[in-house]
Amino acid sequence: MRTAGRHVLAISGSLRTASSNTSLLLAAERLAPPGLRIQRFAGMGALPHFNPDLEADLPATVADLRATVDAANGLLISCPEYARGMPGSFKNLLDWLVGSPNFHAKPVAIFNASPRASEAQRSLRLVLTTMSALVIEDASITVDLLTRKLGPGAIVADAGMAAEIATALTNFSEFVAKP
Ligand SMILES: Cc1cc2nc3c(=O)[nH]c(=O)nc-3n(C[C@H](O)[C@H](O)[C@H](O)COP(=O)(O)O)c2cc1C
Repeated sequence: MRTAGRHVLAISGSLRTASSNTSLLLAAERLAPPGLRIQRFAGMGALPHFNPDLEADLPATVADLRATVDAANGLLISCPEYARGMPGSFKNLLDWLVGSPNFHAKPVAIFNASPRASEAQRSLRLVLTTMSALVIEDASITVDLLTRKLGPGAIVADAGMAAEIATALTNFSEFVAKP
């Protein structure tokens, strides 16, 4: 397995400080298998509203997003559901990546912190496949942080949840290791 030096960019679809989706990603950072480094992108809230007119002279925050995504071997996304869809701020981030030249075939694992969030999950998969990302279902999981409000430390300490996350990440590492 060729995972040495591979890194995954984790993006939470929630801007909330105590976000369950962000907690899940922070737990994933700690549970990553050897050779897979997970780093979180924390700049979603600073992105301007998507406007194709700005493509000619990209705002620095957008250029940083694109460069960070380009440099990652894979993406790990965890996104809540608002009003049966994705949060607008997260869809805005994805819209900025549509024009990114190296997004094609980018491996993406989708984590989900709420078993109830079925429509946002469906919509997210449709958007990502439309953008030519490679959604890895064997690396995509749903855990229940809706009824169990756990922070990253408590998620790592929960043997069942930790095992599920670790297995998903091990499965994901097989894909991000591909050239
Ligand atoms: C404005 C708003 C709309 C929501 N709409 C839905 C919804 O349609 N379906 C659902 O399952 N949960 C819905 N929720 C619940 C959130 O998905 C849930 O609180 C989730 O934990 C938020 O993610 P976070 O903890 O990462 O911020 C909504 C929450 C808010 C604040």
